[in-house]
Amino acid sequence: MYPLRRNRRLRTNESIRSLVRETIISPNDFLVPLFIVEGKGIKQEIPSMPNYYRFSLDLLEHEVKELWKLGLKSVLLFVKVPDNLKDNKGTEATNPNGLMQRAIKTVKNICPQMIVMTDVALDPYSSFGHDGIIQNGKIINDDTVDVLAEMSLSHAQAGADFVAPSDMMDGRILAIREALEDDGFVDTGIMSYSAKYASAFYGPFRDALDSAPADVKDIPKDKKSYQMDYANRFEAIRETEMDIDEGADIVMVKPGLCYLDIVREIKNEVDVPVAVYQVSGEYSMLKAAAEKGWLDHDAIMMEQITAIKRAGADVIASYFAKDVVKLLY
Ligand code: PBG
Repeated sequence: MYPLRRNRRLRTNESIRSLVRETIISPNDFLVPLFIVEGKGIKQEIPSMPNYYRFSLDLLEHEVKELWKLGLKSVLLFVKVPDNLKDNKGTEATNPNGLMQRAIKTVKNICPQMIVMTDVALDPYSSFGHDGIIQNGKIINDDTVDVLAEMSLSHAQAGADFVAPSDMMDGRILAIREALEDDGFVDTGIMSYSAKYASAFYGPFRDALDSAPADVKDIPKDKKSYQMDYANRFEAIRETEMDIDEGADIVMVKPGLCYLDIVREIKNEVDVPVAVYQVSGEYSMLKAAAEKGWLDHDAIMMEQITAIKRAGADVIASYFAKDVVKLLY
């Protein structure tokens, strides 16, 4: 008699569905990106990221306490650097009293158990908005790597638990690992943006930090000479395996939704935790559609987050983290 199997039995009601559900979202899944600015009393909405803010250090304290109360235990810090401190070499990036270094201390002071991860890349510090130093019409690799290693060390010295290099220069993980080891920071982790694609989805983030690539003679106004070509798959595996060999503790795929095939493939291939960054453009798209009343914000958000985890994400960096967690309670 047909059918012997009626799959709908397991979908009859929410009780049975929840009993057999494979993917469960919890606050433990999230890494919360935070944008920080100089000043006092500032909580500034980012125009292309509705309901997402830049915080000055005093108000960051309040935000971090709220995250902790919600069960969100990891943050990823980004700083908006004043224009007068930007230069080609990202000199300000290694200032022990720079905004990032002070932000790390601020978070660690008020919430010592909060895991603090820091973005390591030159773009917010670069007068040209690039992740590398420019010389003779090129983004140069090895000198940039030296700065990234110094920058990572300065974040570790300020108290960062993890550094998160997002630049896509070759060889930076090994250089950072060696710099940390040489200085005794043997417990500082590296979360590497391993398969980071040259994506138009980063647009709103570059608004948030005012870090978009500028007009520079002979240099294209994009990041395609260092971030990956989104047409490629094998390369993502190679990049990721190299980063693990060089000492990465966590690897990342970025952006999220359009790249879930890559996430699954990497998850099947490697034995370290895999992070996925649901990036700014993904956030803004949903906010815009929901504002227009075209999509159900919360339903789509949960569907997307669940899809990211189902694809293999052990860690999800998402601007929706707070919204999601509030729905779980
Ligand atoms: C800096 C960096 C970027 C993002 C994270 N780190 C921007 C870029 O590479 O241009 C993007 C995050 C987002 O869009 O949410 N290198």
